[in-house]
Amino acid sequence: MKGREGEDMFIGLDLGTSGLRGLLTDDQGHVLADAEETYPVLRSHPGWSEQNPADWISALGRVLDALSRAAPSAIDAVEALAFSGQMHGATLLDAAGHTLRPSILWNDTRSAEEAAKLDDMPPFRALSGNIVFPGFTAPKLLWVARHEPQIFDRVAKVLLPKDFVVHYLTGRAASEMSDAAGTAWLDTGARVWSEDLLSASGMRPDQMPDLFEGTAVVGEVLPHRAEALGLPKGVRVIAGAGDNAAAACGIGVLTEGDGFVSLGTSGVLLAARDGFHPEAATAVHSFCHAVPDTWYQVGVILAATDSLNWLGQILGQDARTLTAQLGDRVQPPGPVRFVPYLSGERTPHNDSTVRGAFLNLDIASTPQDLTRAVLEGVSFALRDSLEALRQAGADPKSLTAIGGGTGSRYWTSLMASVLGLPLDLPAKGEFGAAMGAARLAQCGATGAASAEIMTKPEIAETIDPDPALGEACAAAFAAYQASYAAIKSAP
Ligand code: XUL
Repeated sequence: MKGREGEDMFIGLDLGTSGLRGLLTDDQGHVLADAEETYPVLRSHPGWSEQNPADWISALGRVLDALSRAAPSAIDAVEALAFSGQMHGATLLDAAGHTLRPSILWNDTRSAEEAAKLDDMPPFRALSGNIVFPGFTAPKLLWVARHEPQIFDRVAKVLLPKDFVVHYLTGRAASEMSDAAGTAWLDTGARVWSEDLLSASGMRPDQMPDLFEGTAVVGEVLPHRAEALGLPKGVRVIAGAGDNAAAACGIGVLTEGDGFVSLGTSGVLLAARDGFHPEAATAVHSFCHAVPDTWYQVGVILAATDSLNWLGQILGQDARTLTAQLGDRVQPPGPVRFVPYLSGERTPHNDSTVRGAFLNLDIASTPQDLTRAVLEGVSFALRDSLEALRQAGADPKSLTAIGGGTGSRYWTSLMASVLGLPLDLPAKGEFGAAMGAARLAQCGATGAASAEIMTKPEIAETIDPDPALGEACAAAFAAYQASYAAIKSAP
């Protein structure tokens, strides 16, 4: 498909943990081309998770090349591009702009001790609005100071992953509010770097990138980069967003009452907020939204489809086969219980050391019983996040359901009953973080109002909670909640 003559085009890119996804869209939000390129996660020590920033750059070249081959005339009409990205990663640059070491990612747990140390300092929760989680950026720098002092001494800038690629394209060290809020250095209510939080972790304001709102223009793609990447001259780079904020832009979750649940590798329950209402102790994350003057809150569980994939590996069957074996008719939760803390948990426990468990296994338990228990356990973990969000004052009345796990009808129906909320399933199409980034690029380049461009997707179906399952789900959820203390006290 080709864009119409004279029409403006936009590129949205999502720098994820497993790969870079790119979309080329027209000004009606139609997707003209899409491409994805993967790169590895480096796990050289237990708990470490790193990526080579050079791999992001080579993936960018391949994605842009694939987009231009798919829609050559549309690429020439590109006005602006923007990135969504995995949050929290620490990419360290020296004074010459060279990377000092591999980027330390959001799911790297080496700095748990440093995180606890910062979290004990009252200004962190008070100003950032959040617990300092081990995955956040600030404790990573404390770890580098302690274990790699020769590198720490040379840090001139700390960039989040997508901002590293923006720096490569524009030559500017820039970030935006939604991603910056995940560093633990932002005064999240005031939307400025906090000098107090920076100095409490041994950092200086000049080591931080300039801050923008998500729809602001950072600069133009440098001419030599544009030429090498096959982009037209003068493409503007818009500041973009962290992945959850971008996904929210992609499905029009912008204002109070809007929310989504995402069943991806990790699980996310997000509620848009008109104001900043931190409630750090709930382990809900309170971050700036990508749209000026708005915020969002999110409960994050670390293993959603990851739990099902893990079971699939053990049973020698893929996740799709496992869920297909259950049929579509949801049964009340069974006696086998699964707690999905395979990688520790963020909301509501902030516990990087707890691990998962199956409980009440019986000699007669079948693989299907285990699959059901995994789907139930992940759903209960997200219900925990919903309860935490409610404690923080968020109260979504329905949720858009997105992510790979929503391909299972059994899972989405069960989830609606466990959460006690209707789930809206979008019709087929693009509505993820890359689409959110393309929409940010369009708003940034044209000045269009976010509400006009970041509309809700067409809904194929709404799944209502099943009243017949309500009581059984509530009882099983209470048993699930009691499991955490039991697992923690087990030797
Ligand atoms: C949010 C979070 C994830 C990562 C990875 O706090 O850790 O959304 O950005 O996708």
